[in-house]
Amino acid sequence: MSPLVWLAVALSLSSTIVAGGDCPGAHRNITMEAACREACGTATAAAGEPMYQVCMHALGDDYRAGAVKEAYLFPYDAAWKAALSYELTAGWAQVVLMNGSLSGNEKAAYGLVAGGSYREAHAAMEKVTPRLPDLPPDCGLDLGVGDEYRTALRDVGACRDRLAKLPPSSLLPMVEKDYNLTLLAYLLGKLVGIK
Ligand SMILES: *[C@@H]1O[C@H](CO)[C@@H](O)[C@H](O)[C@H]1NC(C)=O
Ligand SMILES: *[C@@H]1O[C@H](CO)[C@@H](O)[C@H](O)[C@H]1NC(C)=O
Ligand SMILES: *[C@@H]1O[C@H](CO)[C@@H](O)[C@H](O)[C@H]1NC(C)=O
Repeated sequence: MSPLVWLAVALSLSSTIVAGGDCPGAHRNITMEAACREACGTATAAAGEPMYQVCMHALGDDYRAGAVKEAYLFPYDAAWKAALSYELTAGWAQVVLMNGSLSGNEKAAYGLVAGGSYREAHAAMEKVTPRLPDLPPDCGLDLGVGDEYRTALRDVGACRDRLAKLPPSSLLPMVEKDYNLTLLAYLLGKLVGIK
């Protein structure tokens, strides 16, 4: 082997190793706690770190402490949870709208949750979920769904900001929870290399 060929081989090997470090792989088995730490970027998982708490709480609904699963299952689970939660929230907004007691800005804000923005956010998350389970085990794959998460975050975030300016409502905490779930789903997407 000539030095140049050797150099080429060595370089390609080292770049493989670096890429491997960047994309941890969807099919490794990890615990729920490790998934939350990795998603929230808190190596020490300080007990007070709010998104870590949101993560443990959301995943804890479905998995027991210490549960070991394939990494992609955590973002998959969170994306489903977010989509389902949008449906419940939109349903409640619809119930209140049909009651006919709202007007003006409140009616408009509820309308965005019952239809427009939330429908778009839901459609975005529905594009994400089917992509997550079928990941090949290799890294560096761009699933191309980062934009979908960002669409959902923008839509739900806009509804939250709008409701937050209005008199306190039963809808606001529901929308805040939806925003947290959306952010969590996006952060857990880091486990499968989503940017
Ligand atoms: C993860 O665990 C499952 C069984 O629960 C096993 O079939 C699979 O091979 C494991 N994957 C890896 C990458 O170790
Ligand atoms: C329906 O409207 C009445 C008054 O118009 C109000 O007291 C009640 O709380 C409303 N219910 C809901 C679910 O918004
Ligand atoms: C949303 O997450 C924040 C932390 O990022 C937390 O302080 C807040 O209580 C959460 N809200 C809901 C409704 O879950």
